[in-house]
Amino acid sequence: MHQLTGQKQNVTIIVAMGQQNQIGLNGTMPWHLSDDLKNFKKLTIGHPVIMGRKTFDSIGKALPNRLNFVITSNPGKVRAYKVCPVQNLEQAIKQAALTGKEIFIIGGASIYKQSLDMADKLIITHVAYNGEADTYMPSIDWNQWKVVDKQQFKKDNRNDYNFEVVTYRKISQ
Ligand SMILES: NC(=O)c1ccc[n+]([C@@H]2O[C@H](COP(=O)([O-])OP(=O)(O)OC[C@H]3O[C@@H](n4cnc5c(N)ncnc54)[C@H](OP(=O)(O)O)[C@@H]3O)[C@@H](O)[C@H]2O)c1
Repeated sequence: MHQLTGQKQNVTIIVAMGQQNQIGLNGTMPWHLSDDLKNFKKLTIGHPVIMGRKTFDSIGKALPNRLNFVITSNPGKVRAYKVCPVQNLEQAIKQAALTGKEIFIIGGASIYKQSLDMADKLIITHVAYNGEADTYMPSIDWNQWKVVDKQQFKKDNRNDYNFEVVTYRKISQ
């Protein structure tokens, strides 16, 4: 739990990354994993989600049935239906915490970097991808995290690569 506002909030980072920590290519993800997207939807639905402006641009609209916070230095420019533009991560967390629900940080790299210290859960899709990327997950200190759940998926006609969805909990210091 992270304490920012006098209240405690559960902050979860959710990310899909390749074998060299790749997360993005040309403003989008380097793979298509239909079952991972389904899982992402199942986990985040009904929850506040926080993203950077570039990730929002790549999605192109608010994720339905979720409170969408978009971090940008130009809130006036992010005008989209059902989106809350905010000026920084702290503001996003403070507002999202008012829901009392688990808060999901959904990327991209710049927002993951700023939020790694305040997260208490990571849901990482480890993708068997070795290819090109231009955006990478910042490095994670694995000593701070323990695995609490693992699910494996095979490459098939819906999923470009084998992948594993692993849930990690912060080891309390
Ligand atoms: N694999 C995955 O799970 C995953 C998940 C999400 C995204 N991605 C990929 O990651 C890539 C995008 O990541 P990215 O790091 O380039 O961009 P990003 O984190 O999505 O967005 C960066 C933007 O967020 C705003 N921002 C960030 N920190 C801020 C701060 N402290 N104050 C004010 N504004 C702030 C700025 O917007 P302004 O320029 O408007 O000020 C900045 O340009 C894409 O390729 C996307 O597909 C992958």
